[in-house]
Amino acid sequence: MNALFAPFAPDAGGQPLAGLVVRPGTPDDLPATAELAAQRECGDVAEWVAVHGRRLADERQRLFVAEFEGGIVGYAWASWLTPVDDGGRGAPDGWYLSGIVVVPALRRRGIGRRLTQARVAWALERNDDIYYVVSASNRASRTLHAALGFREISTDFVLPGVVFANADGILCRLDKRPDADVIDLASRR
Ligand SMILES: CC(C)(COP(=O)(O)OP(=O)(O)OC[C@H]1O[C@@H](n2cnc3c(N)ncnc32)[C@H](O)[C@@H]1OP(=O)(O)O)[C@@H](O)C(=O)NCCC(=O)NCCS
Repeated sequence: MNALFAPFAPDAGGQPLAGLVVRPGTPDDLPATAELAAQRECGDVAEWVAVHGRRLADERQRLFVAEFEGGIVGYAWASWLTPVDDGGRGAPDGWYLSGIVVVPALRRRGIGRRLTQARVAWALERNDDIYYVVSASNRASRTLHAALGFREISTDFVLPGVVFANADGILCRLDKRPDADVIDLASRR
């Protein structure tokens, strides 16, 4: 099992957390997001503060945090990516979900779903679609995103800076208008 990913447990859902707040992240949140990142991926918390600080200062990156009883219990990023211009292939320019971590003790309480719904809503106010990439072995993440309407559209792509250990990446898209093709065809009749 890959410790980076939650074990796949379809029947282990718990009660949604009452009082959970999801909001845009600020510089004050960085010690907490860095702590979560360091717990998941190792490394020094101060280094993670610096990494997250650089991302937060970049207008192509948006941080969302989940707050519960005064503490940060999860965070997630959305990033504007231009994969082909940056040396990749097979993936369009657009907003991408780009990293989500929920504190292990509060998983399966709806935090990941809320953080993702907030990013999707934010991006779809600005664009017609939003993307994310996932390792095929991360079934917890795939299940969460599929339930929100993401469709797995390609395995033949390269996203600069993203390496899948088993070369098992999947590119996924959520359309603002999932029936857009049908509407376009109908309007041409
Ligand atoms: C993936 C992750 C963000 C999910 O966060 P979470 O707060 O536990 O997810 P939620 O409680 O909102 O789950 C929403 C739905 O997603 C699915 N899901 C989430 N975790 C799951 C798991 N471990 N196994 C099976 N399904 C899962 C379920 O359908 C769940 O609904 P349910 O609980 O009613 O059954 C969390 O497990 C995590 O931080 N993992 C490590 C980091 C990671 O993998 N990031 C994603 C990289 S693309």
